[in-house]
Amino acid sequence: MKKYKVGVVGATGMVGQRFVTILENHPWFDVTVLAASPRSAGKTYKEAVGARWAMTTPMPKNLEDVIVLDAVNNVNEIAAAVDFIFCAVDMKKDEIRELEYAYAKAECPVVSNNSAHRGTSDVPMVVPELNANHTEIIPMQRKRLGTKRGFVAVKSNCSLQSYVPALYPLMEYGIERVLVCTYQAISGAGKTFERWPEMVDNVIPYIGGEEEKSEQEPLKIFGKVEGDVIVNATKPAFTAQCIRVPVSDGHTAAVFVEFKNKPSKEEILEKWANYRGDAYKYNLPSAPKQFLNYFVEDNMPQAKLHRGLENGMAISLGRLREDTQYDYKFVGLSHNTLRGAAGGAVLLAELLCAQGYID
Ligand SMILES: NC(=O)c1ccc[n+]([C@@H]2O[C@H](COP(=O)([O-])OP(=O)(O)OC[C@H]3O[C@@H](n4cnc5c(N)ncnc54)[C@H](OP(=O)(O)O)[C@@H]3O)[C@@H](O)[C@H]2O)c1
Repeated sequence: MKKYKVGVVGATGMVGQRFVTILENHPWFDVTVLAASPRSAGKTYKEAVGARWAMTTPMPKNLEDVIVLDAVNNVNEIAAAVDFIFCAVDMKKDEIRELEYAYAKAECPVVSNNSAHRGTSDVPMVVPELNANHTEIIPMQRKRLGTKRGFVAVKSNCSLQSYVPALYPLMEYGIERVLVCTYQAISGAGKTFERWPEMVDNVIPYIGGEEEKSEQEPLKIFGKVEGDVIVNATKPAFTAQCIRVPVSDGHTAAVFVEFKNKPSKEEILEKWANYRGDAYKYNLPSAPKQFLNYFVEDNMPQAKLHRGLENGMAISLGRLREDTQYDYKFVGLSHNTLRGAAGGAVLLAELLCAQGYID
C-alpha cells in the first residue's frame, strides 16, 4: 500500500489536534500539510496551537516546526501538495461549503468532519461498517462538480455513533420508532473542564442543533443511492433529546425502539455479536475487530471504563430489556472524538482509499 500525503485543515483545533495525534504512526497516511485560519498561518504548528494543545499525548515532534498554511487563501497550494485533506474548521456553514468545494474542484478529495455538506444529496455520509456502499455516489458528485479526482465525503454527527450502529443490524425487523436521549461529553463542544468550568458538577439540557442532527442524519445513513442522489429513508421515526453532561469524553445514549416484527432478545444479541458490515472485508487499519460489544453487567457500559475500547473505535452496548411503551430499551456508548470525530473520518478515508476513490 502506498503512503498517502495528507493535509489537515483546521489542524490547530480540537478535532485537528486529534487528527494529527491518531495519524502519528498511521500505516497508510503521512500528515505533510497543516492549515488553519489567517490567525495561525505563517506560524509554526507549535506556536499556532500554543496553550490550546488538549491531547493527553504530546504534539508529534515532526510537526512542531511545520509552518501552518492559510486554509482559505492557500487552497491550490495545499491541494497540489497532498493526496487528500481532512477538514474540521469552525466557520460559518456556507463558508465551509464553499471551502470544501474549492478543495474538491482543485482535484483534492475532502474527508470532512463538518456538518455543512451532510445534507447535500450527492455527498456520501458514511459510517464504514454501516453504509460503505454510499460511496457509489462519488462518480455522480464528480460529474456535477466537473472534477476527475476531487469530491467531498463526510462523516456523521458524533451523537449518532452511540445508537445508529446498534439499530442498523436490526433493520430487517422493520424499525418503526426510536426515542433516544443522549448524554454528551464536553469534548464534543471542543472543550475541557479547564476551559468550561460551568460544566463541573452540572448538566445542561441544550446542545444547539444537536437534536435535529440526531433525528435527521440517521435517515441518510439508512437511505439508498438512487440515480444521482442518496434518497433518505422515511423510517424509523426518530425523536431525540441531547444533554451535555460533565464527562470529558464519551457520548452515552439511552435508546427505546419499536419494531414492526419484534425480534427476541436473543435474536438482537446474536445480530449485534455477529454484525460485521461491508467495510470488514477491506481489513482497514483503524477498524475495530469487534464493532458492537454487549456488556451483560447492569452497570455497564460506562464512559470512563469503555470509551477507549479498541482505540476508541468500538461501540459499547448494554442493558437490553423489554420496555412498557416500546418493544425494547438499551444503552449505547461511543468515544465522541475518536469514533465520533477524527477516528471515524480516518476510517472513512481508509475505506475511500481501499475502494479506489482516493488514489
Ligand atoms: N469537537 C468534536 O468532537 C467535533 C465532533 C465532530 C465534528 N466537529 C466539527 O469539527 C469542526 C471543528 O471543530 P473543533 O471542535 O475542532 O473546533 P475548534 O477547536 O474551534 O477548531 C477550529 C479550527 O478551525 C480553524 N478556523 C477557524 N476559522 C477559520 C477560518 N476563517 N479559516 C480557516 N480556518 C479557520 C481554527 O483555526 P485557528 O486556530 O487558526 O483559529 C481551528 O483550526 C466543527 O465543524 C465541528 O462542528 C467537532
